[in-house]
Amino acid sequence: MQILITGAAGFIGFNFTKYLLSTSDATVVGIDSLNNYYSKKLKKDRVRELSRYKKFSFFKINILNKKKLEKIFKLRKIDLVINLAAQAGVRYSLEKPNEFVDNNIQGFYNLIDVAKKYKTKKIIYASSSSIYGDSKKFPLNEAQNVMPKNIYALSKKINEEMAEVFSRQYNITFIGLRFFTVYGEWGRPDMFMMKYLTSSYNQKINFYLNNYGKHTRDFTYISDVCKIMSKLVFIKKKIKHEIFNVCSNNPQKLTDIIKKIDFLTQKKPKLLKRKLQKADVVKTHGTNKKIRSFVGKQNFTSIDHGLKNTVNWFKNYYKC
Ligand SMILES: NC(=O)c1ccc[n+]([C@@H]2O[C@H](COP(=O)([O-])OP(=O)(O)OC[C@H]3O[C@@H](n4cnc5c(N)ncnc54)[C@H](O)[C@@H]3O)[C@@H](O)[C@H]2O)c1
Repeated sequence: MQILITGAAGFIGFNFTKYLLSTSDATVVGIDSLNNYYSKKLKKDRVRELSRYKKFSFFKINILNKKKLEKIFKLRKIDLVINLAAQAGVRYSLEKPNEFVDNNIQGFYNLIDVAKKYKTKKIIYASSSSIYGDSKKFPLNEAQNVMPKNIYALSKKINEEMAEVFSRQYNITFIGLRFFTVYGEWGRPDMFMMKYLTSSYNQKINFYLNNYGKHTRDFTYISDVCKIMSKLVFIKKKIKHEIFNVCSNNPQKLTDIIKKIDFLTQKKPKLLKRKLQKADVVKTHGTNKKIRSFVGKQNFTSIDHGLKNTVNWFKNYYKC
């Protein structure tokens, strides 16, 4: 099977590509624009790590460039597309909304339109828990109304709607994944956990604790995400378009996570507490009943174990 993974130099794209290459016979073509939203070095290191696998090839391609995208589909017979390329970052969507409209909406359209032209049968794509907005109905479930609170979340809602229309019109299977705060090795430096660890090991960098630490997140460990995605790649069930929460169903208060990290690092960064930031959602907690009944038995890694691996990776990679 030949799989195209977009955003392969990103956090989830990299980890999932590595997981697929080490656990299956799939051939993976990875593409990524290697944008500079966060450290390019980290993205290049991820690609270097993947390049050790014979069945992996990488192309620096922006999904906004339809011509280059087409070249890949012409060159290779792509059986399955996994779209993990996007502009992420809820707060950044207030600063640069156009990046979200371009990369996440136009980019997604380009990709699925080219995939349709070259008769790809199945597309798995990233949505987000942020699509639920400030819903008060917990645990969040796929059937309830969504209320995007920012352009990032709106771009994901539009992706889901585009996928629905394409699945009906062109007979392509679509699977949308609403990821809930994914964390772990090779994590994103713009997210809470990596920022906190950076401040823990570099006392000169203050850590801003938003909403005075009163946020709750359904943290989901990256290797659980990879296992679920892999099952979805190989699953034989016939579907048109399904959307799944990908979450551990185990919400954690940020203040509790901080205590656990402090214990693991034996450090305490300088905390600057501040009010709730515009665009931020206060709580996420999803049900994972639907994905579990679809892919079969799925265990979720405990937060303590996931955090330990994350801290160890951080210390190793950043040589702390
Ligand atoms: N990490 C999470 O907790 C989380 C939660 C919810 C949703 N998601 C979604 O999952 C997907 C992957 O997220 P991630 O955490 O790995 O983010 P990431 O930023 O680490 O990865 C995204 C990658 O896409 C690339 N990219 C961006 N625009 C591109 C374009 N136009 N063409 C080609 N490549 C492009 C970036 O260079 C980056 O390497 C995204 O769609 C994100 O919105 C992630």
